[in-house]
Amino acid sequence: MDAVDIREVGPRDGLQAEAPVSVEDRVRLVEALLEAGVRHIEACSFVSPKAVPSMAGAGDVMARVPRAPEYRYAALVPNLKGAELALDAGVDELTVTISASETYNQRNVRMSVEESLTQIEKICTLATSADIPVDAIVSCAFGSPYEGAIEAADVASLARRLLDGGAARITYADTTGMATPPLIERLTRAAGDVDGLHLHDSRGTALVNAFAALQLGVRRFDTSVGGLGGSPFAEGAAGNLATEELVYLLDDVGYETGIDLNRLLEASTLVAGIIGHPVASRLAEAGSRN
Ligand code: COA
Ligand code: ZN
Repeated sequence: MDAVDIREVGPRDGLQAEAPVSVEDRVRLVEALLEAGVRHIEACSFVSPKAVPSMAGAGDVMARVPRAPEYRYAALVPNLKGAELALDAGVDELTVTISASETYNQRNVRMSVEESLTQIEKICTLATSADIPVDAIVSCAFGSPYEGAIEAADVASLARRLLDGGAARITYADTTGMATPPLIERLTRAAGDVDGLHLHDSRGTALVNAFAALQLGVRRFDTSVGGLGGSPFAEGAAGNLATEELVYLLDDVGYETGIDLNRLLEASTLVAGIIGHPVASRLAEAGSRN
């Protein structure tokens, strides 16, 4: 059976959009995800605690999550300082954030796109010497709340510069859920192929985009348990594609994820309790078939 790599971003993208919760609860969420069979988790971000108070204490989270050779922890970093802290904390992978939208990049990381590229090159040099891969997340890859349409050719050329600068792989992010299947196809053609996708469901298109992407050969997705998530720096951001909704689809279509849907729904219930309100996932609301 064909395998799909799901990187669970709920502990980072999910919780960054919520009021701060304790390190203990963040670790409990990671543990529940591991129990459901999730093996690839973006556990936190090493960012300014003033910019994103919910991600303060990232080092404490990393120090307390269970470790095993098959568990792969990523952490998001915006700059070299974040990368140094993340490597010290023992992450297995860095995700670096940069945007195809100049305005969003400025709002998100207070740097121009060119300045972010310079930071990322430095991050790649540091991470490569520690044998840690860098995944460059290109946000607003299908449209920006500030500049509107973003040309696929511009996104593809940014991706090429990131790979030239030392990134091991690229994940294209639909930060405010603007993509539709034709836009995914257009980017695939412009970029040659799409390695990974990070989808948001602001306009109800995340799952259909994932299905279209699968048919185009994409086998790596970022998703968030419960459909939590959203950048506090992008107008109109809403939750990520819910992990349980993608797993529900993949189970039926016949892709291997290693994730147990019913255990994952338990993690979804847990996170709703942690954040203190219902999650966006419709599958969590309706329940699975069995
Ligand atoms: N981790 C922790 N602290 C950091 C940091 C990092 N990666 N980078 C900078 N800081 C600290 C500095 O030490 C400084 O602290 P001080 O005020 O106690 O001296 C403070 O943050 C400001 O540093 P500066 O370099 O001037 O940053 P800035 O104010 O221009 O902000 C970022 C730039 C990138 C640090 C900030 O915008 C950020 O963290 N953005 C992340 C956004 C994010 O997570 N978005 C989520 C969607 S992808
Ligand atoms: Zn996101």
